[in-house]
Amino acid sequence: TQALRLGIAGLGTVGVGVVKIIRRHADLLQARTGRPVEIVAVSARDANKDRDVNLSDYVWETDPVALAKRDDIDVFVELIGGENGPAKASVEAALATGKDVVTANKALLAIHGQELAEMAEAAGRVIRFEAAVAGGIPVIKSLTEGLAGNEITRVMGVMNGTCNYILTRMQSQELGYNALFEECAQLGYLEADPNLDVGGIDAAHKLALLSSIAFGTKPNFNGIQIEGIQHISLDDIHQAADMGYRIKLLGVAQRSARGLEQRMQPCLVPSSSPLGQLEGGTNMVVIEGDAVEQVVLRGPGAGEGPTASAVMGDVCDLARGLQIPTFGRPAASLQDAKPAVTGLP
Ligand code: HSE
Repeated sequence: TQALRLGIAGLGTVGVGVVKIIRRHADLLQARTGRPVEIVAVSARDANKDRDVNLSDYVWETDPVALAKRDDIDVFVELIGGENGPAKASVEAALATGKDVVTANKALLAIHGQELAEMAEAAGRVIRFEAAVAGGIPVIKSLTEGLAGNEITRVMGVMNGTCNYILTRMQSQELGYNALFEECAQLGYLEADPNLDVGGIDAAHKLALLSSIAFGTKPNFNGIQIEGIQHISLDDIHQAADMGYRIKLLGVAQRSARGLEQRMQPCLVPSSSPLGQLEGGTNMVVIEGDAVEQVVLRGPGAGEGPTASAVMGDVCDLARGLQIPTFGRPAASLQDAKPAVTGLP
């Protein structure tokens, strides 16, 4: 049997995690997919950085676009990040030259997903992005496969671990927002632009993708009402606790008679509910469907192992020849979401 040949662009935390899994689990991956999964070539900005993994077996490409165009790879794995620049250029180059794409890039797909999905379809390829939403939780697979028989009525969740860490520690440690923001900076929890985390934007990118898959609409990031956690005070946390609630940065997407409502904002949730009990950097996604009623998924939303685990789930699907379209259905069939008039809590 022929190997599935990968080109991996981006060797940060997630890229290194993917290389480690492929080296550690070569036999397991072959047994599960029926064919070897091999890395052919890699690329990253800094060739000399110490990465705690052996890369000497792989071709080194300095330019991710050149990597994407190589004719000895089947799948281009984009782990560069960013909504434009080399990430977008290399994904486009991969599709144009007949490769499937696996990416963890939520910003790229939340903003350009429709365009890229159409490009993939025209080329007869797919873009898979399990790792872009809620890290290690297989939430996209749950929606497109396990829950495929449901009309989805609502999707909601806590999808930014950093914000959940801050809000949980405000509650349990009586530390103010600014001190915890500093702590997150020290611990390396924050995105390069921290406003993506605390401003709710990173979580909103993820919600735009989930709601597109759940409701069959084009990803509509600009239709999300977004409010971050920067203005939550210890007083707010205490008052909520007195009434039996916790404050969580909660994303909600639901269809109503008024249109598709998508909100990402601090919300009160009952302290005893699964969402209220969610501690630290963990993520939780709640999916409601007409047949299944409610499913709650919980797990790590970031980090080397969990995010690489989600990337590998997609890689293995491609190794098995499972070509689920990018948003779970043909891009041509996705509807424009009529955004609901929001403003209600
Ligand atoms: N900054 C993100 C988080 C990382 O804290 O959840 C994963 O997207």
